[in-house]
Amino acid sequence: MRIRNKEGNFLQQINLPGISWRHCTNRRIIKIWEHYKANGNIRISELGVINAIAADCEDGTNLFEIGTFDGRTSLNLAFSSPSNNSIYTLDLAPKMDTLFPLVSSEKHMVEKEKSGGRFNKYRKSDSSIISKIHQLFGDSASFDYSPYYTICSLVFVDGSHAYEYVLSDTYAAMKMVKKRGVIIWHDYGIWEGVTRALEEIEEKEKLGLKNIRGTSLVYLKTE
Ligand SMILES: C[S@@+](CC[C@H](N)C(=O)[O-])C[C@H]1O[C@@H](n2cnc3c(N)ncnc32)[C@H](O)[C@@H]1O
Repeated sequence: MRIRNKEGNFLQQINLPGISWRHCTNRRIIKIWEHYKANGNIRISELGVINAIAADCEDGTNLFEIGTFDGRTSLNLAFSSPSNNSIYTLDLAPKMDTLFPLVSSEKHMVEKEKSGGRFNKYRKSDSSIISKIHQLFGDSASFDYSPYYTICSLVFVDGSHAYEYVLSDTYAAMKMVKKRGVIIWHDYGIWEGVTRALEEIEEKEKLGLKNIRGTSLVYLKTE
């Protein structure tokens, strides 16, 4: 049983087995875009791991992110993945009603000025990269994912941290991921709802979820 901490804010015991990032990707040289971490973004080390995994995605496949926020991870996925990949990123539209209650402390991520606000400065200089990104709006618990079933080489689950949403987003991710694709969750061990939901799912489904050591990422590669 290991305990990890994130800047003193959240702390839970974690029980999923650990895995080294080296076993999750073939890439060893990683580039990162947008170094500045806003409150709501993932840590730069986590971005490095995700970029390495994105670079391993088969060309011509799709990547799906639940939870756009300011677009820092979508942007990195677009830059890091092969050139013919598409990045779909889902976010709540402003003032949209939600099926389940959100956690009160995540409201600032929902009520931001603009979803994907980091894309703009690359629109001219890197238009081919930005054109890989497709913004989608909806509540992740009621969104129609059926066009994406079985066609995503990477699904990144980083939407609401409420327990009910993590369960529902996880089952959506399981439907979207293709064979030998990867699902990554963020904030395991950090947000109680994420930690509890993932451990319950693992207990029930025996998927083989693993915590990437030194991060709050949970990793699954499908067969
Ligand atoms: C932690 S932030 C995502 C951070 C982003 N993935 C990154 O790496 O920078 C969570 C995002 O999920 C969105 N979100 C929260 N609840 C949602 C829901 N029910 N459906 C869709 N998006 C949701 C929030 O609006 C916010 O943009």
